Amino acid sequence: MPPDTQAELLALNQELLNAILRRDWRRYAELCHESLTAFEPESCGHLVAGLDFHRFYFELPASSGPAQATMASPQVRVLSDDAAVVCYVRLNQQLDAQGRTVETAVQETRVWQRIDGRWRHVHFHRSRAG
Ligand code: GLY
Repeated sequence: MPPDTQAELLALNQELLNAILRRDWRRYAELCHESLTAFEPESCGHLVAGLDFHRFYFELPASSGPAQATMASPQVRVLSDDAAVVCYVRLNQQLDAQGRTVETAVQETRVWQRIDGRWRHVHFHRSRAG
């Protein structure tokens, strides 16, 4: 597995998580392919396709206070020159309305595909950990 590709994918994946935290729709949409598919708790067991479903959450009022997402024990499996899987437990840290820290963990598998020479996020599956 080429280490440069692994590092590039981890950096892109972290950028994606940061875009979600900052509600930076522009960057999120740049990193994703418009045909993105996903299973996540918010989709209630359904496979959602496209970006519209995700955009809804970016347009909600921003939560106050700092927040951070850490990929714990990330694994990158490069399947070919054009496809890779990144999986990890995502640790979220943020403040609640009372100023207390709240920590949550979710399992994420994210699939990246190189399309027209650029890595794009094409599928993910998120489950609540534990
Ligand atoms: N809910 C958007 C994402 O996790 O990519």
